[in-house]
Amino acid sequence: MKHFTNLKDIPAQDLRRILIDAKKRKKARKKLNNLRTDKGAPLRDKLLIQMFEKSSLRTRLSFYLAIKQLGGSTLTLRPDELHLSKGGESIEDTAKILSNFGDAFMLRTDKDEKLEEFKKYLSIPIINGLSPSSHPTQILSDVFTVEEIKKKPISKLNITWIGDSNNVLNSLIAASIKFSFRLNVGSPKKYYPSKEIIKYIKRKKNKISLYNNPIMAVKGADVIFSDKVISMNDKVNKIKKLKHFKNFKINQKLMNFAKKDCIFLHCLPRGKEVDEKVFSSKNSKVWQQASNRVHVQKSILLYCLGKLR
Ligand code: CP
Ligand code: NVA
Repeated sequence: MKHFTNLKDIPAQDLRRILIDAKKRKKARKKLNNLRTDKGAPLRDKLLIQMFEKSSLRTRLSFYLAIKQLGGSTLTLRPDELHLSKGGESIEDTAKILSNFGDAFMLRTDKDEKLEEFKKYLSIPIINGLSPSSHPTQILSDVFTVEEIKKKPISKLNITWIGDSNNVLNSLIAASIKFSFRLNVGSPKKYYPSKEIIKYIKRKKNKISLYNNPIMAVKGADVIFSDKVISMNDKVNKIKKLKHFKNFKINQKLMNFAKKDCIFLHCLPRGKEVDEKVFSSKNSKVWQQASNRVHVQKSILLYCLGKLR
């Protein structure tokens, strides 16, 4: 069994194996309805327990379909209905029960420490469905989408991030190290990645450049990623922060500095960081990006449960 909490901690070759499996599985079920099971139902009789401490649409639905297509079932717990949050039941006891009843646990949490605490006591794998510091299932799936559209390994492409230094960017940075791709980050200086992340980048000697000028950041880009300026866990003065990002809006004028066939990706939900024209242009691949989460998460589940082919 393997946990999936942070891309940093997963060997690059395992991440690549997950993507290869996802590609094969996606191809094999091209004509199947969403609820049809994959041939062989590799996770038959397996239960994925999901818990969301924060809102979710895509992650919730894509994990639901992922386990279904593998032949298993899912149960979603509401944290406010558990003794864990209201009655003071410990993570240790909760984890033991989850391990008795389920086969894998997917947690979206507002505290990174909870993932570590659960890991200590679970005897089933835990998957990080977004935490304040990372969003690994999203970014692994995004690497899949980029390679699917560009038909090349991501290591041969220039990737740009325009936006806040948040959980999604942290995972993109980790991916840039694991998959060895060039990454430009464009944001106001005040919102550059934390010292700890910069140290990690330096230690890994990766090709990451920081720009406080969005034009410089997108020059030559094959892919532009963005995300909301205000994340779910952001306890900031929202009006001030949005003002600071005023010049970082992704509009056609900015897109014109990137390569002609540059694609736009966004994990969603969106805010005002991207203008409507870019968002609905033919270069925007956000819906394909969202659908691919099902395929990659299936292979993540198989990896965690030791069933990856
Ligand atoms: N991108 C993403 O994780 O979406 P949800 O918050 O809707 O799950
Ligand atoms: N950075 C965003 C991602 C949402 C999927 C957040 O944490 O709210």
